Amino acid sequence: PGRSLLDPFGRAITYLRVSVTDRCDFRCVYCMSEDMAFLPKRDLLTLEELDRICSVFVGRGVRKLRITGGEPLVRRDIMTLFRSLSRHLDSGALDELTVTTNGSQLARYAKDLAACGVRRINVSLDTLDEDKFRSITRWGELPKVLQGIDAAQAAGLSIKINAVALKDVNEDELERLLEWSHGRGMDLTLIEVMPLGEIDGQRIDQFLPLSAVRARLAARYTLEDLDYRTGGPARYVRVKETGGRLGFITPMTHNFCESCNRVRLTCTGQLFMCLGQEDAADLRTPVRNAESNDQLERAIVDAIARKPKGHDFVIDRRHARPAVGRHMSVTGG
Ligand code: GTP
Ligand code: 5AD
Ligand code: SF4
Repeated sequence: PGRSLLDPFGRAITYLRVSVTDRCDFRCVYCMSEDMAFLPKRDLLTLEELDRICSVFVGRGVRKLRITGGEPLVRRDIMTLFRSLSRHLDSGALDELTVTTNGSQLARYAKDLAACGVRRINVSLDTLDEDKFRSITRWGELPKVLQGIDAAQAAGLSIKINAVALKDVNEDELERLLEWSHGRGMDLTLIEVMPLGEIDGQRIDQFLPLSAVRARLAARYTLEDLDYRTGGPARYVRVKETGGRLGFITPMTHNFCESCNRVRLTCTGQLFMCLGQEDAADLRTPVRNAESNDQLERAIVDAIARKPKGHDFVIDRRHARPAVGRHMSVTGG
């Protein structure tokens, strides 16, 4: 307990999100601009370095590791990292090793993930319409993602579908996504768009408050509040008619920072204490400088001591430029 990571607001850090690459094979319109510049490969931490940092966090009380990106499954040799990290599941130090993916590489990797002890994965999917899918992702192929989801279910993985609720884009399709996800035994989580990084267009034109969506769904379905928690920010209801779980992630309309339990590591070794703030700590220098983990542990403890109270995202016409300049693909959400 003395070795667990507590922030200045008494929140225990038990969840580490690890972005293993800033690259992605899609360019979702709310996530990246079309001409995103990616990091040069030499700036990346090696898989061994990522493993070392994760392992120090596990030693300090982190119980859940989520691999993210960009698209994590496009990083070369990524299964080596999963295989190595799975030792913490075997030892009982870790409750969950998991991934958030766009699904494009799942047909290839689903079995391997399951073999590494991954049980539950999150797949980002905002529409079931092929043309719309192509316009959101700029060139992604929906059938490939659906095949990936099939492969993941065949491999025994539980799936949560993540859909960012987008005004005028998938607004009219949320019921369909719900029926489809629940019909296949998958949870569905709806997400409010967050103002991270410059995009082509204005956030306010994408933003759909989930308070309104929930009211609309409640007129058609019976929604029963659930105590079910995953350690993530979603709050869940059971949809009586489908029997499935529906989650709401509402950073804009209902801030959940008070119960924040997470920090995020980027592929260059920066540790972001909050998704919605610019402050980051450098962990690359300590991981590269010394064979022992002492410096690294100290850098982590110092960083957690500066974890801010929460984000101050705003979406309105007067804030055309986002307060946080980096894109979601840098920190993986
Ligand atoms: P579960 O383990 O299934 O609960 O997953 P999760 O919600 O923790 O992770 P996921 O990668 O599926 O993230 C879903 C959405 O929640 C993404 O859009 C993230 O950006 C967002 N999210 C996750 N953590 C935070 C956070 O601390 N703050 C904010 N504002 N958004 C977050
Ligand atoms: N706001 C909210 N969610 C976003 N995602 C990417 N960019 C944003 C944004 N600006 C989502 C992806 C994925 C998850 C990791 O974050 O769709 O589901
Ligand atoms: Fe890629 Fe995910 Fe960002 Fe879309 S949301 S561009 S799939 S990282």
